[in-house]
Amino acid sequence: MENKIIKQLIREAEEAKKNSYSPYSNFRVGASLITKDGRIFRGTNVENASYGLAVCAERNAIFTAVGLGYRTFDAIAIGSDLNDYTAPCGACRQVINEFADSNTKIILYKSEADYKIYNISELLPFSFGPEALGK
Ligand code: THU
Repeated sequence: MENKIIKQLIREAEEAKKNSYSPYSNFRVGASLITKDGRIFRGTNVENASYGLAVCAERNAIFTAVGLGYRTFDAIAIGSDLNDYTAPCGACRQVINEFADSNTKIILYKSEADYKIYNISELLPFSFGPEALGK
């Protein structure tokens, strides 16, 4: 994948992060993904006074894409305000696993110039996925 695309995904995730609704944690997260046909979708975390209802940035981006009919993506970028790489939570790893394949790049970034790329089996080994159900 071109470096230009990776940088664009990081910029898109940073834009999404500006809309984070996180008054309880004050922890803003941004995500963006690119579909196989080059469309980009964004997501950010949305919290609630009933804390357990918070939805993470990654899941928001993925569910937005899937809701519009895009089920396969080449890459997803994830970042926060940490001065470090932001590890996606376990629930988001499971949701990424549903739609990712071994080529899907999971880009954890600190900045446009500083990121690491993983695949889903590195982040979620021995996973329970659609294949267990014959799908
Ligand atoms: N959060 C995400 O958006 N993605 C993650 O993978 C980690 C956690 C959000 C959920 C909550 O709004 C805030 O970060 C603190 O947990």
